[in-house]
Amino acid sequence: MNILLTGGSGYIGSIVARELAEAGNRIWILDNFSTGRRQTVQALPTQGIEWVEGDVGNAGLLKHLLTGTRFHGCVHLAGSSRVDESMERPTAYYRNNLVAGLTLLEALTGADVPSFVFSSSAAVYGTPTVTPIPDDHPPNPTHPYGETKLAFERALGWCHRAGGPRFFSLRYFNAAGATRDGALGENHNPESHLIPNLLSAAFSGRPVSIYGVDYPTPDGTCVRDYVHVEDLARAHRLALDLLFREDRSEALNLGTGRGYSVREIVGAVERVTGRTVRVEVRPRRAGDPPVLVAASTRAQQVLGWSPEFSDLDSIIGTAWLWHQRSRG
Ligand code: UFG
Repeated sequence: MNILLTGGSGYIGSIVARELAEAGNRIWILDNFSTGRRQTVQALPTQGIEWVEGDVGNAGLLKHLLTGTRFHGCVHLAGSSRVDESMERPTAYYRNNLVAGLTLLEALTGADVPSFVFSSSAAVYGTPTVTPIPDDHPPNPTHPYGETKLAFERALGWCHRAGGPRFFSLRYFNAAGATRDGALGENHNPESHLIPNLLSAAFSGRPVSIYGVDYPTPDGTCVRDYVHVEDLARAHRLALDLLFREDRSEALNLGTGRGYSVREIVGAVERVTGRTVRVEVRPRRAGDPPVLVAASTRAQQVLGWSPEFSDLDSIIGTAWLWHQRSRG
């Protein structure tokens, strides 16, 4: 199948692109390299993957691309994804995550591309009232990042009714880990995520900040549901394959159902790396909900998806391998 994938130079996007290409699809990666890494171009297989440099919001470029080739599906991961930045620059988040996405959606609808997989987030839930969070828990985002993810999910629903592509919105919980061969992994700049920051601290000996130890959780630190990025990538392949066969549309949680506190992750990083991590306690980070854990019931029922590599040692072990290779 011919698939347009946006955001393929990013952490999750690159691993999804590889998964889809290895399954025999032809992938066109549309990416402007604003936050992704150019080194990803070399790290991905050349077989079945073509790169197109440009913006998702560039209607002319999309028209050109979609006219030249018949596409069967689109996987949309390009976007801005930092909660703190979204609080400071909300209009940029609305522009990148919603307005540009709508331009893409219009172009796909115009070109009769029938299937769409959207990279959504647990951030749509805000602070949930039930844990683990069921797929039908009411969304209630608490920052522009979550708002824009939810707004685009809703736009997908309305556009589908009006003749747009069928879709799955995949609500990732905490994407973590690296490919098991150590080729692709997480490397944001600046890095805000817990596991890469802990691995940097283990690697360099510099301290890492722990944001808040006074949450209403067993050890006072935030609890998250860490899901291995290769499990996430597989969910995209399963979602697309199902959309190619069936006309259905839905939002699905992707998590493990098991949460770990920040302190538990610190302990696991020390165990897996064999190094000591120096931590410094800091005040809470704005917008962090105390607990985010998914019930991924629908992903299991609909896609037959369940995590295979998301045990903590696999997540941290693969991330550590990647970290040592990319920094060492
Ligand atoms: N944390 C630290 N120190 C760090 C980094 C993080 O203590 O250096 C803590 C955070 O405060 C949080 C936990 O570790 O309690 C996890 O933080 P991450 O930044 O790794 O992940 P988040 O849960 O904040 O972010 C995830 C996704 C986002 C999404 C968000 C929704 O990565 O894309 O969930 O709440 F928006």
